[in-house]
Amino acid sequence: MAGSGKAHLRDTDDVLLRVEDIVVEYETEAGTVYAVSNVSLDVRRGETLGIVGESGCGKSTLGRAMTMLDPPTSGTIDFAGHGVTTLSASKRRQLRPKLQVIFQDPISALNPRRTVRKIIGEGPEIWGRKVSDEQINELIAAVGLDPQAVGDRRPGEMSGGQCQRVAIARALMLEPDVILCDEPVSSLDVSVQAQVLNLLERLREERELTLVFIAHDLGVVKNISDRTAVMYLGKLCEVVPSGDLHRFPSHPYTRALLEAIPVPDPEVEILPMEIAGDLPSPLAPPSGCRFRTRCVMATNRCAAEEPQMREVRPGHFAACHYSEDLLARAEAEQASGQEPAPVA
Ligand SMILES: Nc1ncnc2c1ncn2[C@@H]1O[C@H](COP(=O)(O)OP(=O)(O)OP(=O)(O)O)[C@@H](O)[C@H]1O
Ligand code: SF4
Ligand SMILES: [Mg+2]
Repeated sequence: MAGSGKAHLRDTDDVLLRVEDIVVEYETEAGTVYAVSNVSLDVRRGETLGIVGESGCGKSTLGRAMTMLDPPTSGTIDFAGHGVTTLSASKRRQLRPKLQVIFQDPISALNPRRTVRKIIGEGPEIWGRKVSDEQINELIAAVGLDPQAVGDRRPGEMSGGQCQRVAIARALMLEPDVILCDEPVSSLDVSVQAQVLNLLERLREERELTLVFIAHDLGVVKNISDRTAVMYLGKLCEVVPSGDLHRFPSHPYTRALLEAIPVPDPEVEILPMEIAGDLPSPLAPPSGCRFRTRCVMATNRCAAEEPQMREVRPGHFAACHYSEDLLARAEAEQASGQEPAPVA
């Protein structure tokens, strides 16, 4: 199948956010950091799109570019029919509240000197809109906190989980269409993580939100996301409906990540990360396929020729020279009732 190089959906009716050929490069003293290279992707209205990959692979950089927090070096972003990369600064500013971000460390993301009530009300204030105490109390309650108990507290007087709920309320106050959740539970106690994930899921349904959910843990991402985008060293490897991720992985990196997910059974040994070696430097990414220095399936072709992203099943995109072979293998495994075997 010829590759378009883009993980763009055929049916564009419900595409809310489309990014095309996004490049983000940082000029540093050591040279150019190729943080995100030619990423093309769609986000459907109302879905949760997960972005997963190792630390430093460019997830946050891509997320920040997608939500207009930082402009990309090049590429285009289309949000709700607006070509935002070509809009005037003032028009872009008007769209900003519609794209909100929740960060990993909620305590440092909130102003330590302001009370919860002030923090939640400050967004509309910046945009010249007054909000009533009732509206603020309603939102505090909507994120599962007691307005009377926490309304006058400051971030330092609350737990990480409570602070993340406040950050979510602050984002909701601006009535966004999209919330980028950048590792929103990674810094929280394990016991609190599921509660915050459930809250995000409930709010998405109730308020018809679209979520872009970044994490380095594929296990978390595949549970919360409708579709999962797997990233490696600034590029997309695979974009797949999460329900098919486990059954039809079509990229060796995805398969390696899946093999590294611990099995929730104390009798079963926790599998080590199967991917040998470290992430290469984004200052000098490998030629051809960026995963080739760690890929157990790499051939000479992989050094010479860059694999193109293409649709291997309806709505399922992958970018390995051998994705069709891997898919055929996964389909055969499914037909015979086997679990996906290691690709080595
Ligand atoms: N402002 C910057 N200047 C220079 N390099 C940067 C800058 N921001 C990010 N980078 C580099 O760009 C690459 C991608 O970083 P990014 O933070 O997007 O990765 P990530 O996948 O979000 O990682 P993590 O899981 O650790 O959050 C990394 O090599 C990082 O060091
Ligand atoms: S293109 Fe080659 S190196 Fe890249 S993932 Fe596929 S087999 Fe591995
Ligand atoms: Mg990050």
